Amino acid sequence: MKLLIKGGRIIDPANNLNEILDLLVVGSKISRIGKNIQVKAAKLIDAKDKLIMPGLVDMHVHLREPGREDKETVESGTKAAAKGGVTSVLAMPNTEPAIDCPKSVKLFKDIITKKAHVNVFISAAITKGRFGKELTNIAGLKKSGIVAITDDGSSPDSRKLMSEAFKKAAQEKVLIICHCEDKNLSREGVVNKGFTSTRLGLRGISRESEYERVARDIELAKAKKASVHIAHLSCRESVEIVAEAKRKGIKVTAETAPHYFSLSEEDLARFDTNLKMNPPLRNKKDISVIKKGLKDGTIDVIASDHAPHTENEKDIEFERAEFGVIGLETELAVAITNLVRTAILDWPDLVNKMAYNPAKILKIDKGTLGLGKQADIIVVSPHQEWVVQKKEIYSKSKNSCFLGKKLTGLVEFTVCGGKIIYANVNKYK
Ligand code: DOR
Ligand code: ZN
Repeated sequence: MKLLIKGGRIIDPANNLNEILDLLVVGSKISRIGKNIQVKAAKLIDAKDKLIMPGLVDMHVHLREPGREDKETVESGTKAAAKGGVTSVLAMPNTEPAIDCPKSVKLFKDIITKKAHVNVFISAAITKGRFGKELTNIAGLKKSGIVAITDDGSSPDSRKLMSEAFKKAAQEKVLIICHCEDKNLSREGVVNKGFTSTRLGLRGISRESEYERVARDIELAKAKKASVHIAHLSCRESVEIVAEAKRKGIKVTAETAPHYFSLSEEDLARFDTNLKMNPPLRNKKDISVIKKGLKDGTIDVIASDHAPHTENEKDIEFERAEFGVIGLETELAVAITNLVRTAILDWPDLVNKMAYNPAKILKIDKGTLGLGKQADIIVVSPHQEWVVQKKEIYSKSKNSCFLGKKLTGLVEFTVCGGKIIYANVNKYK
């Protein structure tokens, strides 16, 4: 099977490509890139006025399977990924039960083999059951094929245990992804602690609860010469701590999610539980520091933190609603709208943050359009506007914080392993 994608601007920073060319896929692989490729292709995509980019690599995705298939499944979540231009995801282990042993990795792999529409990479828990008390079998997990460990959703309180985790992770060459939150400080908080929490009469989540853990985990990783990746940075101080660590040459990488550079606590005027996530939306100054961190390279990655929750868990009082928002289907357009169109990032920067850097951090062979690589490719209309509508969401859960928002940049085709797994039917034109 041959697929010829013709006349689009290829953006592939890994290979220094940013020009209008044709791209030929043969079987599952990228076979040729060049001018005027003429072959009898089984299938032709006209990419005139469009961008051809590597499929996105989203390293922070909650697929909820096993255990909470009412929120999302591998099948529904990876379909949503395909629609959003995401061809590889890192699945988070805070499932029910948590993915915390080689046996649960094996069971999860079987589901992936049967149901996934895109590449699913697996992360496992740092501590058994994610209870923060006892380390998992990191060596065994590594052998079972995981690419990182994380207790995402919480952070082990014990310094001693985390220090031991970094030591083992360094020995086994496993990346630790840190959800940075000191629950002794964030307690029962539901929004950023400050003016908005006071105004709305809601309990606040302090900034210290995040950034003190960022500092602790970087320090522990450094002491054990381990690699550490800081998940979902939301506030100014966290960005500054990461920047300082990088200046000192510490092996740290960091990520943020689209809502943290697009929305602030001021958008919470109406107690909208679709704007409730952890860490919470911070203030406008935080947004500008996060944007600066993306521009200057302090923040390496944009990931969705796709966290589906059912209507029953969201359509209730703010205090009781679950934390989290979906994001697979909107992340590219939100980043184009708020970062590329505002000249904070250029197109190659965007591909770096959303495809190439996460692949490098996870040490997976993704995020580029190199010859001979698996053909994970997206074709994007960069100027197409569209409105996020609940009825068009593929994910099982509809808890998007961008509902009703007009965005720019639309995924037209998603190709994964040489197969077209999503094609926009042009309903926005
Ligand atoms: O808002 C969040 N939702 N933050 C997390 O860390 C976990 C996630 C979830 O699993 O719902
Ligand atoms: Zn988290």
